[in-house]
Amino acid sequence: MLTSKRRIGGLDPEKIRKAITSKTKAILVVHLYGNPAKVSELKEIAEEKGIYLIEDCAEAHGAEYEGKKVGNFGDIGRFRAPLRFLFVSIE
Ligand SMILES: Cc1ncc(COP(=O)(O)O)c(C=O)c1O
Repeated sequence: MLTSKRRIGGLDPEKIRKAITSKTKAILVVHLYGNPAKVSELKEIAEEKGIYLIEDCAEAHGAEYEGKKVGNFGDIGRFRAPLRFLFVSIE
């Protein structure tokens, strides 16, 4: 399991590529704090390795990466907005 200390961009796709083994079935990427992960690169890696890409978009509703909404890159996009979450909008 890899974790990221950076808030923007998430995990380094190259580190993920190196961590994949014959036992790896999927990449589960979390778009944290409204910041999309480098999901195009992750999709490429998933396709190359023949594994699934699952996006957790619970913290990034409406966020975009390369002009496309997160949740549309992977095989599964998971969205959830528990009522305890606070959505803030500033114009
Ligand atoms: C990134 C992320 N994924 C998922 C969830 C929610 O998970 P669950 O549907 O298991 O409550 C949260 C917050 O609760 C979250 O921050």
